[in-house]
Amino acid sequence: EGRAPLAGRRALVTAGPTHEPLDPVRYIANRSSGLQGYAIAEALADLGADVTLVSGPTQLRNPAGMAVIRCETARDMQAAVHALKQQDIAVCTAAVADWRPAAQATQKLKKQSRNDVPPPLALTANPDILAELSQSSPIRPQLVVGFAAETENVAQYAQAKLKRKQCDWIVANNVGANSDVMGGSENEVMLITSQTSDAWPRLSKTEVARKLAVAIADWFSRFL
Ligand code: C5P
Repeated sequence: EGRAPLAGRRALVTAGPTHEPLDPVRYIANRSSGLQGYAIAEALADLGADVTLVSGPTQLRNPAGMAVIRCETARDMQAAVHALKQQDIAVCTAAVADWRPAAQATQKLKKQSRNDVPPPLALTANPDILAELSQSSPIRPQLVVGFAAETENVAQYAQAKLKRKQCDWIVANNVGANSDVMGGSENEVMLITSQTSDAWPRLSKTEVARKLAVAIADWFSRFL
């Protein structure tokens, strides 16, 4: 029996949404379930990688056989990622909120009367964890993989995103109306590199994860 293909490789996977608080009881969030990211973390661990899963708030159990770090906000996730030792592989599946409320009230924002003017919602930019990891030379992981959820022109936007963020691969999916991807159990993705774009058939998220883990193991066996 051969050695596990990713034995000795450290892999970081970010997963799930982030919650960005407005006050002690309210937050801004998104529909990410974390399913795809957790499946990728498990598939990498199955190939022998030493996996750290950094997860936003989800309903999912901690997968066995890996370190799991739970966080709430984008800034928490950024801090958790920065605290890790150098990784060989980073797969950023988390649906990190692009913006957070500019101010976080320490007390619940209260409506005093029915005709109160609603408070303004000012937003400020969150850190881009994928872009930071991709540009973290000299400690950059050898392979940095991002995700792109798009509703149209999927391949074209994904290529642009790859260049902008300087990651190596983008797994692009179409989350347009009726795709049932967000929160669903299936995914239909394209694997985009700077040179290639490969459309995969519609698969379960578990199968997408296995196929991606195998592609990652292949890349390491060919190039490193
Ligand atoms: O730019 P966009 O949000 O579409 O990019 C998606 C990719 O970037 C995903 O891989 C996601 O995990 C990552 N990302 C991130 N930090 C952000 C925003 C996105 O790591 N603040």
